[in-house]
Amino acid sequence: MNHKTALITGAARGIGLATAQLMTARGYKVAMVDRDVDELNAVVTNLDQAEAFFCDVSVPEETAKTVKSVLAWTGQIDVVVNNAGIADFGPIEETDFVCWRRVMATNLDGVFLVSQACLSALKQTKGAIVNIASISGLRASTLRVAYGTSKAAVIQLTLQQAAELGEYGIRANCVCPGPVRTKLAMAVHTQDIIDAYHDALPLNRYGNESEIAEAISFLASDKASYITGQVLAADGGFEATGVGLPALRK
Ligand SMILES: NC(=O)c1ccc[n+]([C@@H]2O[C@H](COP(=O)([O-])OP(=O)(O)OC[C@H]3O[C@@H](n4cnc5c(N)ncnc54)[C@H](O)[C@@H]3O)[C@@H](O)[C@H]2O)c1
Repeated sequence: MNHKTALITGAARGIGLATAQLMTARGYKVAMVDRDVDELNAVVTNLDQAEAFFCDVSVPEETAKTVKSVLAWTGQIDVVVNNAGIADFGPIEETDFVCWRRVMATNLDGVFLVSQACLSALKQTKGAIVNIASISGLRASTLRVAYGTSKAAVIQLTLQQAAELGEYGIRANCVCPGPVRTKLAMAVHTQDIIDAYHDALPLNRYGNESEIAEAISFLASDKASYITGQVLAADGGFEATGVGLPALRK
């Protein structure tokens, strides 16, 4: 047991669930935070040392209450993984303000609010924040005006956190996953998008949840004790490439 507690948002499925599974296996107590009561209830019982906390991370009162409940459960928070996210793809002209705000509320406001609510606990543990952005926050593409912009903002928010919180011994880093076949991705990835990703990725395949969880878990751990303010793309090489890759393939 490492006697540490990790709070993971969006833990009911996908990358968040894989991270909860990995971190409980490595001895963390894990506070699994999600707004989907049914999905979270269905998975939390399979994990030792995990507890479910129902919360919409975009609502300030809920995040504050949830962090208090987590502290009542474990007494400490060592790691915060801001993973909860939603995707809504569409052309700029058709992205109305309601859609824009909905994406920003979870993807950006949620990261700000949960991190802020955990600050005094993180100061006590000299803890770590790992924010989950996306390759869509590193490189622009069509249809991602709200999603891509929210994720680019999460990258900058991470740098702000690293700059300001380092003096308390708190580290803040960011993981930018490439495409993973989760519910979120499959709702917005058409066959054209899937084919385009395969073309653009040096590894020529989607990632899986556990590959992203390994990157998150590393940045959260003491193995990364001198790493802060970094953006780690776990993306099959997507960010590294420019034009020409598909032409070189047989
Ligand atoms: N899957 C991909 O291809 C991919 C690529 C890049 C980045 N990401 C990012 O990884 C993160 C996890 O995505 P995933 O693919 O596992 O998605 P997913 O849809 O499988 O899981 C997301 C979880 O977040 C929860 N959630 C959403 N909004 C919430 C809110 N406001 N409050 C509390 N919980 C909320 C959902 O209920 C769900 O359980 C997201 O931030 C996403 O943007 C995913």
